[in-house]
Amino acid sequence: MRKVTVAARRTGVTLAAVAVVLGIESSCDETAAALVEDGRRVLAEAVASQADDFAAWGGVVPEIAARGHVLALPALVQQVLDRAGLGVAAIDAVAVGAWPGLIGSLLVGVTAAKTIAVRRGLPLVAVDHIQAHLAAVQLGRDGLPWPHIGLVASGGHSHFYRCEAPGRITCLGGTIDDAAGEAFDKAAALLGLGYPGGPAVDRLAAQGDPRRFALPRSLLAEDGLRLSFAGLKTALLYQVRGPKGRDPLTLDAQGVADACASFQAAVVDCLAGKLVQAAGREGVRALAVGGGVACNRGLRARLAAECERRGWELLLPEPRHCADNAAMVAALGFARWQRGELADAGLAPLPTGRAGPRS
Ligand code: KG4
Ligand code: ZN
Repeated sequence: MRKVTVAARRTGVTLAAVAVVLGIESSCDETAAALVEDGRRVLAEAVASQADDFAAWGGVVPEIAARGHVLALPALVQQVLDRAGLGVAAIDAVAVGAWPGLIGSLLVGVTAAKTIAVRRGLPLVAVDHIQAHLAAVQLGRDGLPWPHIGLVASGGHSHFYRCEAPGRITCLGGTIDDAAGEAFDKAAALLGLGYPGGPAVDRLAAQGDPRRFALPRSLLAEDGLRLSFAGLKTALLYQVRGPKGRDPLTLDAQGVADACASFQAAVVDCLAGKLVQAAGREGVRALAVGGGVACNRGLRARLAAECERRGWELLLPEPRHCADNAAMVAALGFARWQRGELADAGLAPLPTGRAGPRS
């Protein structure tokens, strides 16, 4: 492979002309590995999800998740190398999601990444999971408009960021209670739809009437970038399970679809409304959205319409890169490697991150 010294002067690091980064993700219940070239082109990726195992528990059990990563990760790394038709010698750097997340889960990915990097003498890059969700918009794209306003809407986060460069972001505001994904999951649970709830609500919302249930849009009229979903979830509970929230669910199938549509419309109004407000405030004409909730078809359609109307650019990752994945980790890892932001064998994962007030 031809070697050039892209960042050599500043960092002492020699980058390959075509640089392959192995990304590893294990922050929650998805184990993932990916090989990404130049932070943009996905050569191969693989994800093993434990979501089905946790349906019976109604959520993630940290100890079980950590053990699941131990079982899945070695085979996934081998799988992406095989799929890309590459040997381990083709890897130029290793990037790993190191925070925030479940500490036992993170430890598995971080230990694997350190082992591969030390054993092969490769640069090791620690990646913030929330920043990686925003870096997912790089995948499959040549160049991005900078700055842009990013929204990370996932199971643990719903925050707005001003993004100046990959991994160079400033938090502008976000939820003061539940995250959007958490709200989707709780709404699904109270409608008897199981875990994880977001995809089920999304699917049923397409067949429902969003005007059937009157639900609040908390803080939407307020000037500012705060979000709140706790009241919305409680309002839905009282409407479908009586004034104490303890009655049995009596909605028929159409009623459940209507509840999904009404709930989703409220979440989408808040996320899209505040995201547009954030961009207007910052004088920025490009939006990016990452995190599992960015898979939501209602949110994607609404943002497409908002951006088209204003002539703004919308950066949406493919759905598989919105949910937890390792390609986004490799994408951000590449940028950090180029800047010489390297970790060493002393890298320790952190349950909390640095990208937002709740992280
Ligand atoms: O980013 P992610 O995969 O994991 C975290 O970092 O949290 O996000 C998971 C969250 C879950 O709460 C899940 O219900 C939600 O994203 N989600 C969705 C959809 N797909 C996943 N929410 C709404 N609509 C969807 N289609
Ligand atoms: Zn995530």
